Formats: sequence, C-alpha cells, structure tokens
Amino acid sequence: MCGIVGYSGFRQASSVLIAGLKRLEYRGYDSSGISVLNTQGLVTFKKTGKIINLQQIVPKDLQGLSGIGHTRWATHGGVTDRNAHPHNDGKNSISIVHNGIIENYISLKEMLKADGVVFKSETDSEVLAHLVAKFYEDDLEKAVKKALTLVKGTYGIICMHRDKPGILVGARNGSPLVLGIGEKEMFLASDVSAVIGYTKQGIYLVDREVIIVDENNYRSTDLGYQELDKKVEHISWELEELEKGGYPHFMLKEIFEQVDSIPRAYSGRIDEDLATAKLGGLNMTNRELLDVERIKIIAAGTSFHAGWVACYLMESMARIPCSIELASELRYRNPIVEKNTLYLALSQSGETADTLYALREIQRKGGRVLGICNVVGSTIARESDGGVYIHSGPEIAVASTKAFTSQITALYLFTLLLARMRSLSWEEGTTFINNLKKLPEMMQSLLETKDQIAALAKKYAHYQDFLFLGRGINYPGALEGALKLKEISYIHAEGFSAAEIKHGPIALINEETPSFFLVPDDGLKSKVISNMKEIKARKGLVIALAVEGDEEVAEIADDVLYVPRTHDFFYPFLMALPQQLFAYYCALELERDVDQPRNLAKSVTVE
Ligand code: AGP
Repeated sequence: MCGIVGYSGFRQASSVLIAGLKRLEYRGYDSSGISVLNTQGLVTFKKTGKIINLQQIVPKDLQGLSGIGHTRWATHGGVTDRNAHPHNDGKNSISIVHNGIIENYISLKEMLKADGVVFKSETDSEVLAHLVAKFYEDDLEKAVKKALTLVKGTYGIICMHRDKPGILVGARNGSPLVLGIGEKEMFLASDVSAVIGYTKQGIYLVDREVIIVDENNYRSTDLGYQELDKKVEHISWELEELEKGGYPHFMLKEIFEQVDSIPRAYSGRIDEDLATAKLGGLNMTNRELLDVERIKIIAAGTSFHAGWVACYLMESMARIPCSIELASELRYRNPIVEKNTLYLALSQSGETADTLYALREIQRKGGRVLGICNVVGSTIARESDGGVYIHSGPEIAVASTKAFTSQITALYLFTLLLARMRSLSWEEGTTFINNLKKLPEMMQSLLETKDQIAALAKKYAHYQDFLFLGRGINYPGALEGALKLKEISYIHAEGFSAAEIKHGPIALINEETPSFFLVPDDGLKSKVISNMKEIKARKGLVIALAVEGDEEVAEIADDVLYVPRTHDFFYPFLMALPQQLFAYYCALELERDVDQPRNLAKSVTVE
C-alpha cells in the first residue's frame, strides 16, 4: 500500500532514499517524503504527488548518512503535504515512516492530546511519532517497543531519533519489511526492489519482529527482548528486471514478457514420461494430495479471476469440486473448514492483507493453505503450509498482466498433478502438456496483432461504458478484461457471463455501449453467438475475440480480433492478451498514467 525505505551507511542518504522510493513508487504514489539526520538534526521534506515533486524540493547537496523515506497511498487523511510521511514529534526529535493502519489511533490520539501533544496531520501514522517520543528516554529500541505494545493494527515502520545518528529501528506487523545487508551500509524497505541495486543479501522480517540497524550491524528481536536468529537470504531478482527495457511503460513490457513468463512458470515442472507435473514445495505427500476432496481458492482482484479460471479446469479435468472465494469475504464469514478441503491462497505480491488474513483464519481453524505467489519470501508465501512460486519476475505495473497468466499456468500444473493421480490418462496428460507448451508461440503471434488492437482502442476509447462477456472457462477472463480496462483507462466496464445479460444488464445496451465478447470455438460458441445477436438486435456495438478464420462471428460483430485455435482449456491465456493490450491502448488514447493509475496501488496491504 505504501512504500517505506531506510538507509544507514557511507552514502548521501537523500539520494539513496529517493532512488529507493522511485523503486517503491508503484506501491503508492499520492505523496512522498524523506527525513535525513545531519548536523542540523532531523531534516524533513515531504510533498504531494509523484516522487519527482519531492525531488524538486530536496536540496541536491543535502548532507546526512542516515535517513528514512515514504511514498504514500492514503488511507487516513487526504492527499496533502501535511499528511505525507515522515511524521515527526513536536520537538522534531523523532521521525517515522509507516505502512499500514493503526486501528486504535483515535483513542491513542486522545491520550496524547491530553498530554498536550499538538497534531499536525489527519493521519493515524502521526500517532506513532508522538508515542515513541513519549516513551523515549535514551533508548530508541525500548521506546519503539513500548509504543508498539499500545498499537492495534498493522504496521511496517522505520524510526530514527536525532540523538542517535546512523541508528534505524524497524518493525513489522502485517506490512512487509526487508533488511538489505551491504558493505558498511544497511537498507530497510517494504520490498527488495528498493535494495537490489546495492545488495543481494536480505533478511525478511516476520510479524511482531523489531530490528535495530546501524551501518555495520543489525540485531533482530521480538517485541520483548528475545533475540531472533535470522537467515540471510539471497535475493534472486536482477536490477534490469526492474527497468522498462526500452518499453514506454512497465505494463507493455510485462504484457510482452508473457512469451517468456509462461514458460518460466512451467519450466522444470513437467514430467513428460509420466505426463504429470512435478512441484516442489507443496509439503504434501501423494497420499495427502489424493485425500483432497475439495479445493477452495482464496484471492482478490486479478488473482481472483485467475483462480476462477483454474476452478473450471480443476472440476473439468481433475473432477475435484473447486470454488473461488473473495478473500475479503471469506475471512469474516466464519468459514466452514472441512478436513479434506485444500485451500490455495493466490497472490502475486504475497502481501495482500485480505488474502493474508483469510489465510490466517483458515489456518486458525485447522485448514491447510498452499500459497501461490510471485514474490519470493513474501508474507503469504512464508506463512502458507507450502506452495508454488509463479516465477513471472517482478511485476511493476499496478495493473496485473503477466502474473495473471503465470498464476493460471501454475494452477494448471497443480491441476494436472491432481488429475493424473485420479482419472486423467497418460495420453490426456500428454495432450494437455503439448497444448501448454504451444502457448508461448501463440502469445507471440498475438503480440504481432498489437497495431490492430491499438487501432481498435483508438476507435472505442471514447465510449463511456463497456460490457465484457464470456461463458464457461472464459467467463472469469471477461471479468478480468473489464477490470483491466477500468483500472487503467478509468472507463466504466463490467464483466458478465454472456448468458446473464438477458437477466437485466441488457437494459444498458444502446448504440453507445460497446460489448466485448470472448467467443472461442468451444462447446458454448453457439450460445454466445445468440447473446451477441441479442445485443446487435438492440443496436449495441459488438467487438468479438474469436478464433482465426471464424467467418460466422465476423458477420455478426462490428469488429473482430482473432486468436489462434487451441484446446478449450487454453483460450483463457489467448483471450487475456488482446484484452490487456486493448486496455493499455485505450489508456494511452486517454492519456492516463498507465503504470500508476489514480487511486490504486500495486499491493493492497490494508483491509
Ligand atoms: C489487478 O490489476 C490489480 N492490481 C489488483 O486487483 C490485484 O490483482 C489485487 O490487489 C490482488 O493482488 P495480489 O495478487 O498481489 O494479491
């Protein structure tokens, strides 16, 4: 939700902090700020808007070898300079950055006001600065711990005191924090993207952990004084993966990367001889996998749509009942957890609060949860009982694209594994694998139609309302197409089961409402054709995604985009890419901020 960064070392802290915030900007970009400790004390700069606005007010020659920084996604209090982090106490002795939500901030604020504290902002986070100042005598670690024992809610924080040069105190509960270990320098950040330009050695904090850092050392404890023995991990991402690589936007780069990210998700995980998948890390025996009688996938947003696609395959190919659950709903529904139900927590970032809390609720009730994540070492990945990484590489654009198809790939492999333990034959498994392996070349051929898609976007980008319609295994893909369009172009778009429109939504149709139909040549094609005709009969505009050479669809639709022919199970991959490009080009046409759309953040680490 927000990005936090801290530095202590030999470099000019302000440049390290701003560079780090730029790497974290995709996490939230309403406003940003830094505090640096130098001979003048704690010097703080903060500004609404993008990091570039902050850069313009920070003196180029700002001295100071330690500091903290923050890029904000507003939760409490509007987007103003005052509400930007870092937050300081009244004497400017403490400076703190916070990612998360302090749920009891109102009562804490009243307590502090009674002590005479004057608040400068509307935020919950400012409470932390005054609490630490209240408890500070001469030990910053102790003051932070005392403050945190009063806090209810989530936090990832980094705190510093003007009398403690070079010292940073970091802590996490529900919001991620990683330590980057350098040579005579240390880094703290919300995620590794802010540190891998300097070091590949990292330590991932766990909930209720506190870490005390200076340029040469770190010490990790719980909220008491129990030292924690932490494992230093190698960070596998490369810096160039965080760059645009010549593309105008991360989103376009990541759409194009699907030619490689899909095979990365299945490479080394296919057993051709046995026509099945081989997935390390499940922490489940074959007998336990055979005992699975039901699958429930927990997710949010795009991951929810990816999980839904997999549910169709799980039921069709593995014959295992499978349902998709909105994580935010499941958590508070007092869920019924059954013995032989296996839960899959699906999350690109591995930090989505809704999904994390649902995972914990299922585990509290004795359920087993596998994590299907992209970010190695992320909270959901580490708290799951096992899992599979999707290996799509860092996804920087807020709108998820390559992670969507990589999630489906990983889930397809898991389904193949379960199916081949049940009724799926060797021949069927081999056919499935062969179709999976044809995807990269098919995705490449789809990328070559980008100019046609761009032209279509130019033609339709100024319409105000879109419907996205699909059926069966392509219904979730229609929901995803609608999400992509609305989240980066801000055009209102709704996804429906194509059959469902006659039960109300068709009232929306007129000559100003384009409908985007996913109509592969599968068993439901004739039904979808009927739905298209229902729209046309009411002067609705129809854009169709159809199989190459399908003249029947071309005669009905106003515009057609073609995808290669494949097995029914694999159309969700092929239907996704044109919709991603359509949304991208519509956003360009409307001059939107494609990689960092308004109001959004890449990882929603608050409820
Ligand atoms: C998708 O484009 C959005 N960025 C958002 O819906 C996202 O998929 C959702 O917040 C879930 O994120 P996760 O996969 O990291 O859990």
